[in-house]
Amino acid sequence: MDIKKTIDLSWDDFDELRDPRPAETDFDQVVETALSRRGFLSGVLAFGSGAVAFGSGLMGSTSVARAQSSGFDFEPIGIATDFDIHVPAGYQWKPLVKWGQPLFSEAEGAFSPETGVSVAMSDKVFGENTDGMELFEVDGAQVIAVNSEYVNPKINLPEASEGMPANVDEVTLLKNMQGVTVMEIADTGNGYEVVVDSPFNRRITHETQMTMDGPAAGSALVQTNADPEGMSPKGTMNNCGSGKTLWGTYLTCEENFNGYFGTTGEMPEGEGYSRYGIGGEGRYAYEKYDARYDLSQEPNEPHRHGWITEIDPSDASSTPVKHTALGRFKHENAEMVQAADGRVVVYMGDDERGEFIYKYVSNGTWAEGQPTDGLLSDGTLYVAKFNPDQTGEWLALTPESTSMSLEEILVFSRMAGSKVGATTMDRPEWIACNPLKAEAYCALTNNKNRGLKTNAGGDETPVGGPNPREANNYGQIVRWTPENGDHGTIDFTWDLYVMAGNPEVHADAYAGSDNVTTGNMFNSPDGMAFDTKGRLWIQTDGDDSNEGDFAGMGNNQMLVGDTETGEIARFLTAPNGAEVTGLCWSADRKVAFVGIQHPGGSWPDGEGKPRSSVISVWREDGETVG
Ligand code: FEO
Ligand code: CA
Ligand code: CA
Repeated sequence: MDIKKTIDLSWDDFDELRDPRPAETDFDQVVETALSRRGFLSGVLAFGSGAVAFGSGLMGSTSVARAQSSGFDFEPIGIATDFDIHVPAGYQWKPLVKWGQPLFSEAEGAFSPETGVSVAMSDKVFGENTDGMELFEVDGAQVIAVNSEYVNPKINLPEASEGMPANVDEVTLLKNMQGVTVMEIADTGNGYEVVVDSPFNRRITHETQMTMDGPAAGSALVQTNADPEGMSPKGTMNNCGSGKTLWGTYLTCEENFNGYFGTTGEMPEGEGYSRYGIGGEGRYAYEKYDARYDLSQEPNEPHRHGWITEIDPSDASSTPVKHTALGRFKHENAEMVQAADGRVVVYMGDDERGEFIYKYVSNGTWAEGQPTDGLLSDGTLYVAKFNPDQTGEWLALTPESTSMSLEEILVFSRMAGSKVGATTMDRPEWIACNPLKAEAYCALTNNKNRGLKTNAGGDETPVGGPNPREANNYGQIVRWTPENGDHGTIDFTWDLYVMAGNPEVHADAYAGSDNVTTGNMFNSPDGMAFDTKGRLWIQTDGDDSNEGDFAGMGNNQMLVGDTETGEIARFLTAPNGAEVTGLCWSADRKVAFVGIQHPGGSWPDGEGKPRSSVISVWREDGETVG
C-alpha cells in the first residue's frame, strides 16, 4: 500500500487496510438475528417503547414534548456548524491550555502560529490532541494530568509535504507531541491558568523511563535488546482515555499503539501481531529512523505498549508503572470502583470494531490510608459476555479457561477473550460508573462492520444484544448493573441507556431510542464521565458533516444525561472538525475542564494553525457545574 495515503485514515480504517477483515461467514446466523431484532429491541431499550424505536408517527411529537420539559439547570443549546465553541446562556468559556503552550519559562516562544513547535522545546510544552484528563489536589495545589493522544503530521510537520517525517528530528518532534502532560493550574483571578515552572510540571513521552509489574513483567514476550530483563520499558504512546485511582494517582490508557510499529525487513512470526494490527509499514514510518519501532529488529517492543500505565502526579520525579495484570489491548479508559468487600475493580474497553469489554478485580482489598502494593498487579482479568436476554457474565481469563499461559493471556488478551466466547462489541470507548448507585455505562461509539465483517481475530459480529443494528453508524450506550449491586460479582443485567440515531432521516431503529429527539440528536458517543450529582456527561467523536444520515446533528458536542429519566440535553458544541474528549472539574466543582481535539479552521487563535486545547467552562453566577 502507499503509506502516504494512509495519513488521513481513521485508526480502524488504517488497521483494516493493512489487514483486511474477512466478510462474515455465518450468513444464516446474521440474517436470523437481524430479523428477530424487531421484537427484541423493545425489551432492551431503557426508555424506548418499541413502537417509537421502529418509527410510528408518534415519535416526533413524543420527542418534542420530552425536549421541552428539560429537567436540567441549563437551557439546552442547538446545533452549530461553525468554528467556535457554544455553551448555554449563563455560562462562559475560555482556553486553559493550547497545544505548544510552555510549561516551563525556557520554552516561552517555542510555539509559532505558522510553524508550530520547535524540536528542541517539544518536550517542554503542552502536547497535541488532548484527550483523557484528571485533576488532583496535592498539598493545596491543583494538578491536572492530560493525555495527548496522537499527532497531526500535516500540522505538526510544516516542512513535510505529505505529513510524513523525513528525518530523526521530525520523528522526535512527533513523539514528543504525544504522551502525558502533568501541570499545576491555578485560578489567578482571571480564570484558571497554567502555573509555569511549577515543580509538578512534567512531560511524559515515548522516551520516559518506566517499569512494569504484574505477571507478564519480565516475561520473554516483553524482553528487548535494550531491556533484556523485560522490566524497564520506555515510554507511553497514543494515550487515549484516563482513569483515577482511589488513592490519587493517574491512569493513562495506551490505545492505538500498533500503528507506530513497522518493519524494514522480515516480519516476525506470531498470531499476536495480526490480531493487534501490527505489521507492514508503520503509520508514520518511525521504523525507518528508530530501530525500536522496527519489528525486524525489536519484535517484542510492541508487546510493551497497549497497557494501563500509572503515574503519580504528586511527584514529577516518579517512575510510571505499566500494569500488565490489566491486560494488553487498545485501552480506551480505566474506570476504577470498589467491590463491596474492598477489592479494586477496573472496567476497561478495547476500542476496535468487534473487540471486547474487560474488568479487572484485585485479589487484595483497599481502604483509605492502606498500602496499595499489589492492587494493580495481583488479580483476575475478566471479559464480558452479554446474553440476548439482558443478562450477562464476566468470564475469567485463566490458563484453565483459555489454554494459554498467564503471560500470554495478558500480552494477548484479545486472543484469550476470543477463546472464552466474549461478546464482540461496537467499539467500546469510555466506561463511567454512577457514583450514586452500582451501575456502569459504556459508550459503543459505532461499528460499520457490525453484522458484515468479523473482528481482527475472525470472531463473528452478529447483530443483536447490546449491538442491535447492522452497519451501526450512530452508536449506543450500554449499561449494566452488577448482581447484588456489587461491582465484584460475576453476573449482571444490562440495557441500552440510549441508542443514538436520526429521527429526521430515519423511521426505523436508525432513528434512535425515544430519548433521542430532533432537539438533542448526536452520533458516536465516546468520552463519558459522571458528575457528583449523578449526571452522565457524554462527549461525541463522530461525523460532523451535518449531511445525509448526520443531517441536523451539526458539530461534535457534549451532552448531559439524566440516567433516571433518560433525558439528554445538549450542553456544548465544538468547533467544526473537532471531537470533544476529556472532562474533569476543578476541586471546588465550579469549573469544568473540557478537551477539544483536532479542531478545524484556526481555532482557537483565529489565525495560524488550529490548536487542540483544554477549555474552562463556568457559570456566570459562580455556582458549581458538576
Ligand atoms: Fe482514542 Fe477510542 O478513542
Ligand atoms: Ca475516544
Ligand atoms: Ca472515538
